[in-house]
Amino acid sequence: MLSLVVLISGGGSNLRALLETCEDAEFPARVVAVGADRDADGFEHAEEFGIPTFSVALSSYPDRESWGDALLEQIVAWQPDLTILSGFMKLLPPRVIEALSPNLINTHPAYLPEFPGAHAVRDAITAGVAETGASVIVVDNGVDDGPIITQQRIPVLPGDTETTLHDRIKLMERELLAEVVLGIAEGDFTL
Ligand code: GAR
Repeated sequence: MLSLVVLISGGGSNLRALLETCEDAEFPARVVAVGADRDADGFEHAEEFGIPTFSVALSSYPDRESWGDALLEQIVAWQPDLTILSGFMKLLPPRVIEALSPNLINTHPAYLPEFPGAHAVRDAITAGVAETGASVIVVDNGVDDGPIITQQRIPVLPGDTETTLHDRIKLMERELLAEVVLGIAEGDFTL
């Protein structure tokens, strides 16, 4: 059974989908804890599923390194096989990445290397592209430029807003994330 720690910053709808997937007794992974850099709305999903949460706010620490060390301490206490950034909107300090990578993955709402960063969906709409996508990557020290594990194209439809497009991308992200977790758990590939 693959044990997962999931980090979020916001609503955690993709986290919720993963928690629902992990309810299936046949699915070989379990979320053991959910962390965030704030008191994230998405904690409510973890609480509903009886999963412990932890919050480590950057503003409570004198610098990013000590914040990262505190976050890392919380993560490793759960001894996860895999840590998933699922809408976690802070860059992790190098020490955290070195400690966890390659067992540290991130979902991103674009077809990387297109539209890295925190506003990928808005950037795709602004650029007027006909299609964007969803990606799951291994986290390294760059911004959304680690090795791509899997990705899929998604069309931008006439009349799409940032919200409608993002909602459609998230549906794909949930499928891709579940496939990646399953693949790792079953040893189909190693990171
Ligand atoms: C997801 O689309 C995720 O890929 C994205 O935030 C959203 C979280 O949604 N992450 C990034 O943009 C990271 N660069 P959720 O809180 O509803 O799961």
